[in-house]
Amino acid sequence: MRIRLLMAETTTKSAGMAQSSASAPFAWNPALEDLSDCPSILIVDDLEINRRLLKAMLKNTNYRFLEAKRAVDALQILEKERIDLVILDLVSPGMSGPEFCRQVKRNRKTQLVPVLMITSLHGVENEIQGIDSGADEFLTKPLHPALVRARIRAMLRNKAAVDSLEEAETILFALAQAVESRDHYTAGHCERLATYGVSVGNALGLSRKELVALHRGGYLHDIGKVAVPDRILHGTAKLTEPEWDIMKLHTIRGEEICRPMKSLAPVLPIIRSHHERWDGTGYPDGLAGENIPLSARILQVVDIYDALITARTYKPAMSHQEAIRIMKEEAARGWRDPELIALFASVSNDSWKEGIAEFASSEWSEVQAMRTSLENMKISLSH
Ligand SMILES: [Fe+2]
Repeated sequence: MRIRLLMAETTTKSAGMAQSSASAPFAWNPALEDLSDCPSILIVDDLEINRRLLKAMLKNTNYRFLEAKRAVDALQILEKERIDLVILDLVSPGMSGPEFCRQVKRNRKTQLVPVLMITSLHGVENEIQGIDSGADEFLTKPLHPALVRARIRAMLRNKAAVDSLEEAETILFALAQAVESRDHYTAGHCERLATYGVSVGNALGLSRKELVALHRGGYLHDIGKVAVPDRILHGTAKLTEPEWDIMKLHTIRGEEICRPMKSLAPVLPIIRSHHERWDGTGYPDGLAGENIPLSARILQVVDIYDALITARTYKPAMSHQEAIRIMKEEAARGWRDPELIALFASVSNDSWKEGIAEFASSEWSEVQAMRTSLENMKISLSH
């Protein structure tokens, strides 16, 4: 009943709008306009009249509309098209609105697409059900056209901000990869560090947030080396004291590069403190013992391990046992956290490999999103 009322009300309004735009000297004609750069809105509703009404409310806006009668069709469109916003009815045939939302938010490719759920069912339970399933906003019929437009504008503004943050993060990870190849590390050094770091963090029962920071730290810890000149980074002679001071600055520069990205806040201690030593003789702050953030200590341990077990231009690869022996020596000398080295020695065997395999198949959205962005960037750079 309410739906019929809404349709009647809005049809009258949209008919009026159509009339006025038809009589206007420069009537809007979507066929004449290039909408490829405009935000794309996917409207999901089994009733054609409801889809038309929504489009009528959004007339005279620069949006590109795509439509789906069924939620399953909408999921297929989302796989193929760049969509900036989905509008869907809470009740839809075949798949409910909340189930559709859950699928969208579970998929790493679509999880950042905002969903506006519309319902004619009143009651806070429906709203809670919609929000619990991942819907970003909720509107109850009868819809007020001005409110619909304002809500959609706000959601698209947020989406644009999220897109630019994601792009900025991708650029940082790509920059970190460029540093990795410039530093003559064995290919995959950062990825191995990310994986090893998470395995050690898992053994220590760290939270998911801390594990994600360790994963990102694997890539970003040396990003500050972008500011170190080639003659210092690649010099064959022993570094002079002033050159060594510049090299040490990569920890501080790295932190400065990543600080503007709020999402990277948990990674900053890793970037800044991964060259501190347990006895306080490290850099840049001379922190000692447990004052060195645990995440930075973990990253340091796996960094040293990977450096030992892989071949470099100046040395062959060591065996796992030999690497562990050297790391224990360094702990005895006071440079490394002895408990952490002991833990590392105990987990970097069979269970270590299991941990890595488990992590490789992980569906963490943060990790998957970063991998997808990097893959996409590589593809676009190769064209
Ligand atoms: Fe470093």
